Amino acid sequence: MTTPLIGVSKSILKIKELIHHVANTCLNVLITGETGVGKEVVAQSLYSESARSSKNFVKINCAALPETLLESELYGYEKGAFTGAHRKRPGKFQTADKGVLFLDEIGDMPISLQSKMLHVLQSGEFSPLGSDTEFKTDVWVIAATNHNLEESIRNKTFREDLFYRLNIIKIEIPPLRERKEDIPPLIEYYYRTYKSEYPESGGTKPDAHTLEILCNYPWPGNVRQLQNCIKKQIVLRSWSKIIDELPKEHPMIPAEIQTETNTNSNQIQINPEFANDRTGIISQFVDLSTSSEKLFEDISLKKIKKLASDRVEKEVITFVLEKVGWNRSRASKILKISYKTLLYKMTEFKVHPPI
Ligand SMILES: Nc1ncnc2c1ncn2[C@@H]1O[C@H](COP(=O)(O)OP(=O)(O)OP(=O)(O)O)[C@@H](O)[C@H]1O
Ligand SMILES: [Mg+2]
Repeated sequence: MTTPLIGVSKSILKIKELIHHVANTCLNVLITGETGVGKEVVAQSLYSESARSSKNFVKINCAALPETLLESELYGYEKGAFTGAHRKRPGKFQTADKGVLFLDEIGDMPISLQSKMLHVLQSGEFSPLGSDTEFKTDVWVIAATNHNLEESIRNKTFREDLFYRLNIIKIEIPPLRERKEDIPPLIEYYYRTYKSEYPESGGTKPDAHTLEILCNYPWPGNVRQLQNCIKKQIVLRSWSKIIDELPKEHPMIPAEIQTETNTNSNQIQINPEFANDRTGIISQFVDLSTSSEKLFEDISLKKIKKLASDRVEKEVITFVLEKVGWNRSRASKILKISYKTLLYKMTEFKVHPPI
């Protein structure tokens, strides 16, 4: 069963419209987007809406196979074409005939195989390994990648002519954090799916506050990560546990959200050993083990300042409240802030008296 393309955002609605227009043209399509955004879902939707849906949808992952195996998988081979070729075998171009050939992770196709691919796309003909005969093929080629192919062309790892052949129709799927409106319908869809898959389990839908946190989380693993969280919740039954376990220190996650999703006060620790050590202090906010190029990208004084000041404020507020037995009025006087500000900060930093 194919997964429907769920989403109500402008970008998903536009993609749905494009799928509808392109489905019967057989123009080559290139689908791009970060990991987990739904490139394969879009490829499947194109196929399902087309007249080719009664034929095969054949997928090949160009990143998963070593060069020689990828070539024989694509074009097939004759008996004796290479050591171990005990009998003739058809390739994906043959099994996908009249249907769809989905070239997944096309950006990882070795450059040595790209000229043959270009030839097949231009001529509609190919010959299996070990054969001189050219076979005709009628496949609709849909390719996907999470690489920036323009950059790969500049780095000479991807052929420009092949790029133009594949990129006749381009479908760019934005990351989930740029289309937050899709999060509630995706939760609804996967909640129903897993509820029927695990009818005995006691998972629940997120309440309004949890939904807000989930909508504001940047989902570096996109829909796949969200989907896995919902599945986990159905089994584990605890949204707060799921939220606690969301990776917070991902470089793509803005500081406010790191604070927002950080509901467990025990996670905030300033290691005294590092208190006066510059590297130690910085390492609490950015990952110093990455390459300098990436590190420089991650370092933002504004972001670190906010993270650091939030941490210290939270620690000081908790320290004073503990000292005065959680008497907020006394604590606000000691901290020299208004009672209202203290309450606001306690909510912001999720500072609660022990139960
Ligand atoms: N719009 C969507 N509606 C429903 N399910 C979706 C949607 N987008 C993604 N998914 C689900 O999220 C998971 C990842 O989607 P998919 O495999 O299509 O992503 P991808 O872009 O191909 O990722 P990768 O680059 O890692 O291969 C799948 O289980 C898919 O069913
Ligand atoms: Mg994929």
